[in-house]
Amino acid sequence: MNEKIKSIKEELTTDIKNTHSMKEVADLKVKYLGKKGLVTELTSNMKELSIEERKEVGKLSNEIRTHVTEELATIEKKLELEELNQKLEKDTIDISLPSDKIKRGSRHPFNRIIEDIEDFFVSMGYDVVDGPEIETDENCFQRLNVPLGHPARDAQDTFYIDSEYLLRTQTSSVQARTMQKNQEKTPIRMICPGKVYRRDDDATHSHQFGQVEGLVIDKNVSLADLKGTLELFAKKMLGENTKVRFRPSFFPFTEPSVEVDVSCFKCGGKGCSLCKQTGWIEVLGAGMVHPNVLRMGGYDPEVWTGFAFGTGLDRFAMFRYAIPDIRYLYTNDIRFLEQFDRKDEENEIK
Ligand code: PHE
Repeated sequence: MNEKIKSIKEELTTDIKNTHSMKEVADLKVKYLGKKGLVTELTSNMKELSIEERKEVGKLSNEIRTHVTEELATIEKKLELEELNQKLEKDTIDISLPSDKIKRGSRHPFNRIIEDIEDFFVSMGYDVVDGPEIETDENCFQRLNVPLGHPARDAQDTFYIDSEYLLRTQTSSVQARTMQKNQEKTPIRMICPGKVYRRDDDATHSHQFGQVEGLVIDKNVSLADLKGTLELFAKKMLGENTKVRFRPSFFPFTEPSVEVDVSCFKCGGKGCSLCKQTGWIEVLGAGMVHPNVLRMGGYDPEVWTGFAFGTGLDRFAMFRYAIPDIRYLYTNDIRFLEQFDRKDEENEIK
């Protein structure tokens, strides 16, 4: 018996020396302590032994079982720690590696332009006001001196909802609203950016587009004030060297009316494809508020005067960012919008 135990111990020592993995430890457990293991076998012939012998064999085999169990537990712990250390070493995180680029949204070109326009006019003391896109015929046309039957309200141009309501064709409707709303008939200085709708659809005309309206009503407002304001505005939006030109025009709600051109910001006025070789680009409609419009808004034209202007946001956006088709502005194509992720200046045409 002692011999057997001694040889088991020796074999165990050699086995443990050659053990390098948890899997091998598990195998050793089977080899020594399993049902048919070397230690278990020591007690296989118990039945044939006397009581005295049984006691002795039982004691010795218990001792060797404890010994083997402890030895295997020790090597198991050691290997476990080694494996853990190896794993930790392998899995170290390099915190200096750059991370994946985070996708972020960007402001729509429209919003960039609206914000710039608002900044400019708010700094001059204007209010920014809002109005509904579903508008009454009265506010969109009648109160702007466009009576029933006037060609400007042609069904070709306008989306009618019924005989009373329509999708506004111009933000000028907010002129009428603002005058009516101002019960005390105090001076008005407002701009109104918003969407308007017309029955148009090609590369330079969309059925929906953006406008900014401006309205000033006060005493002694003159065409010179309008000119000065728009000159400053054009320089702010398009650069200090921008020149402004007024051409006589017609709008039912202003008298006199003008169309406003700016010197081409691409060629500086020399003539290029953008300005169709004229050196000028039309950006605004404007004029002095028609006495009829003032009267319908509750302002006495003998006391009050005013000017109004309206500009298309889309044209500004197209020029500023060199966008070839107006419809890109409305289709929300991520490939188009992503290009505005960069700084404004990089996108602007020089
Ligand atoms: N509402 C006009 C348009 O849509 C522009 C305009 C606004 C003209 C205000 C004069 C005064 O064309």
